[in-house]
Amino acid sequence: MPKAITVSSIKQLVKDGEKFTMLTAYDATFAAMFSSLGIETILVGDSLGMVVQGQSSTLPVTVEQMVYHTQAVSRGNQGSLLVADMPFNSYGSVDQALANAGLLMQAGAHMVKLEGGAWLCDTVTALSRAGIPSCLHLGLTPQSVNKFGGYKVQGREEGAAQVMINDALALAEAGADFILLECVPSDLAKALTETVPVPVIGIGAGAATDGQVLVCYDMLGLTQHRLPKFVKNYMAEANTWENAVTSFKDDVKSGRFPNADHAFE
Ligand code: KIV
Repeated sequence: MPKAITVSSIKQLVKDGEKFTMLTAYDATFAAMFSSLGIETILVGDSLGMVVQGQSSTLPVTVEQMVYHTQAVSRGNQGSLLVADMPFNSYGSVDQALANAGLLMQAGAHMVKLEGGAWLCDTVTALSRAGIPSCLHLGLTPQSVNKFGGYKVQGREEGAAQVMINDALALAEAGADFILLECVPSDLAKALTETVPVPVIGIGAGAATDGQVLVCYDMLGLTQHRLPKFVKNYMAEANTWENAVTSFKDDVKSGRFPNADHAFE
């Protein structure tokens, strides 16, 4: 049985200059597939609202549903670091965040992910003191789609880019273990990754981040919708799911994915 991946082992891997991988999973079968092939981190994303439940956004997803899917993923997991999303409206206060993050950790998560910037510093510190590692999601944060007016690239203006870097620094200082960047220009992601002292994982954020994440249904081509620019359908050139997942892993490790076609300026 290979050794389980931990927050510290990911930090060491990044220090050693190796890229790491993350895929979403929502059930035991997908979790077993990905972890057995060496995908270091698995995200029980609230994207399950869209790809599993058929909702038009992630907003309807509840803590109870996240607990159910985290338990299922945890049963299938074979040693990957398991990150669970805190859904919309589940971390509005420090006390609410502590209670709900506790439920996700008891369901089998090793880390929770929250969407937001420096205003979450007190929450991040409280989680850290309670022994709960956190990943903070910046850039296009889908739970704020109604504030953004759509799913748009974030941080293109110089002021907004600097705010994002300052947010990431403040969150790391407060105790955040990872930062996740979604749909930001590659130059900003590079500058932020070089500045912030914790691992940075990206989706639609270019090649310079320490790790790469994709929604599993997208990278396996399991959709009738047009794929976003930042996704590669690995099943298009593979004859088995094992080959598709292994290609994703090899491409991230070698820097072949993402390339300029998957990135934003
Ligand atoms: O919910 C999710 O799948 C996510 C990824 C897009 C990073 O947050």
